[in-house]
Amino acid sequence: MVGATASRASLDSFIGDGLEAVEQAMRSVTNSQVDVLRDASQHILSAGGKRIRPRLLLLSYRALGGDNFDYAAKPAAAVELMHTASVVHDDINDHGVVRRGRPSVNALWGRTFALLTGDFLFTAVYELMAPYGDFNVALARAATALVEGETLQASAVKNGRFTREAYLRIISLKTAALFRAASEIGAKLAGANINETKILADFGFSIGMAFQIVDDILDIVADEITLGKTSGVDIGQGRGVAVAMQDHNGSARVADPVEAIKRRLLEGDTIDKARARAQVLVENAVAGLDALEDSAAKAELIALAYGVIQRER
Ligand code: IPE
Ligand code: IPE
Ligand code: MG
Ligand code: MG
Repeated sequence: MVGATASRASLDSFIGDGLEAVEQAMRSVTNSQVDVLRDASQHILSAGGKRIRPRLLLLSYRALGGDNFDYAAKPAAAVELMHTASVVHDDINDHGVVRRGRPSVNALWGRTFALLTGDFLFTAVYELMAPYGDFNVALARAATALVEGETLQASAVKNGRFTREAYLRIISLKTAALFRAASEIGAKLAGANINETKILADFGFSIGMAFQIVDDILDIVADEITLGKTSGVDIGQGRGVAVAMQDHNGSARVADPVEAIKRRLLEGDTIDKARARAQVLVENAVAGLDALEDSAAKAELIALAYGVIQRER
């Protein structure tokens, strides 16, 4: 095999083996003796999901020269479990009844067990991260940020202050922080220096911002079957990118019927503006990788970044 093809094949097998080890690690730490916790965890984990965060961690690790997929898989599983815990709790808060194409945990087991399953998934992260010392800090900060972002969001909605600034702060905390942790931890595991680590951390942060903006657009324009989760939630709850990007204050918007707001949004340019913003974030993220040596993993990170804005689910 010639150089580029060989390195592409070796990246594919690294990512394939790494993601398989991630699944194995998640299964093993969630295999509780308590039926409900084991079954509900299995339900949400086996439903799949895009696994973009563990992929981002593994690719960041590889782009900086890491080659031991087993070593990187446990932190990648920890990041994915934290994300999964957050969506289990999110569906309680947002009254989501479909997740990853299946009934949500709260829809099947009720709110109490969904709350506990989310707690269980969060606590499983401790065991996975125990051997990783310092790398734990980045993940711990992302966990705190996630809760802060969700709390600020609920407060902004409650107070009718869902402004553009509030929105950007909220999504940086609830979503982009975990993306940043994924790429930062991947870089650190590979022994990256401060400069390289920052490049990857910034990359993860920017695509995390774009990811949530696109998620909020899809919440308006896509249907539940395609998304595999309850959609159209944001407008009804007076939040999301469309509420934030309009030149009105949030509280005035929420008083209108959801369908009327949705129609206005689809006719106007709010969604196009939001898409443009996500596009700029991704382009900046990709430009930030210029300083890194070219590799198959770097090319795949760039593809992952563009995938964030091209995705339909
Ligand atoms: C959903 O994340 C929650 C957000 C931060 C928008 P994903 O879209 O990555 O969810 P799964 O893991 O693929 O189900
Ligand atoms: C997801 O927020 C962010 C989390 C940290 C859970 P959303 O409420 O927008 O996510 P979806 O659209 O339900 O996945
Ligand atoms: Mg939510
Ligand atoms: Mg939600």
